[in-house]
Amino acid sequence: MSTYILGIETSCDETSVAIYDGQNILSHVTHSQIDKHKSFGGVLPELASRLHLELITLVIDKALNDAKLTMEAISAFAVTRGPGLIGALHIGLLAAKTLSFIYNKPLIPVHHLAAHLEAGHFVKPLQYPYLSLLVSGGHTELIEVSGVQSYKIIGQTRDDAVGESYDKVARMLSLPYPGGPRLDVLAQGGKPIYPLPTPLRYEGYDFSYSGLKTHTFHLIERLKKQQDFYRVEDIAASFQKVAIEILFEKAIKAFKEKPYHHLVIGGGVSANSYLRALAIDYKQRYNIDIIIPPLWACTDNGAMIALLGYKLFKQGIFGERNIGPDPQWSIENLG
Ligand code: KG4
Ligand code: ZN
Repeated sequence: MSTYILGIETSCDETSVAIYDGQNILSHVTHSQIDKHKSFGGVLPELASRLHLELITLVIDKALNDAKLTMEAISAFAVTRGPGLIGALHIGLLAAKTLSFIYNKPLIPVHHLAAHLEAGHFVKPLQYPYLSLLVSGGHTELIEVSGVQSYKIIGQTRDDAVGESYDKVARMLSLPYPGGPRLDVLAQGGKPIYPLPTPLRYEGYDFSYSGLKTHTFHLIERLKKQQDFYRVEDIAASFQKVAIEILFEKAIKAFKEKPYHHLVIGGGVSANSYLRALAIDYKQRYNIDIIIPPLWACTDNGAMIALLGYKLFKQGIFGERNIGPDPQWSIENLG
């Protein structure tokens, strides 16, 4: 008998549902709220919850229709339990709990970041242990993955996350929300002619992005004051060079320390064009199996929730129907 996992993701500003059978994604429906949050310059938690509430049943219904399945055929309901915005998490979790209750099928709570790390599986089957570089709007972490639900953080940011610093620098350059992808596009047209200091370069595996952000701010101010000719594209490229290269510098150093099978990069910033180009370059240069999910799987999506949900289902790892969301859920504490 086939196993069908329905995965629900509502931790931030995407309402996304997918159905996965262990081999293929049978359907994947994502409604992004970005346009609605744009005028606020970021995600408005209250609005995100309301939009998830309005959309969740429609998105679930479409995912089921696209997969040509009935709800009775679904084997289990996987859902993001955290981390994320508490109100937004509540909507997805409540939907999954209700379905689990009505159809008497297991509920599978999924850790959002763990799902990002497992998304490399869409490229090829992953073998444990592997090293993961998680780069998103809230996280910058090097994580040792030694099995399903077995994660150990070996380095992390001491202040801002890399995606957050992209968004903040984008705002300094008056780019509209969401800033990260726009700054990426801008940087593609520039040259990294302004030297900016690389933070925590020789200090273990931790990262820091707040100093880089401040140095970029001062650079912009200085250039504006001098009223010389300058191109914002060059500022963007100078920031991007430091922000991305330090990620690889530390990840490659950590990779060489243990017999990892792959270096898997995940999270929203893994959509970055310079990061993806460097990954191809370093893969050949250092003979490291660097894996980055396809672009559609880099940002928040229900497919990665269904994928990890499937692995948990096969191991019989389920949740109680009375659980609540955990906005601060630690990835090291999943057992
Ligand atoms: O993983 P994600 O979708 O949401 C969470 O933070 O959980 O990541 C969103 C972050 C944002 O900070 C966004 O600006 C950044 O990823 N991002 C990018 C790019 N695409 C998304 N940053 C740099 N270059 C990109 N192409
Ligand atoms: Zn995410």
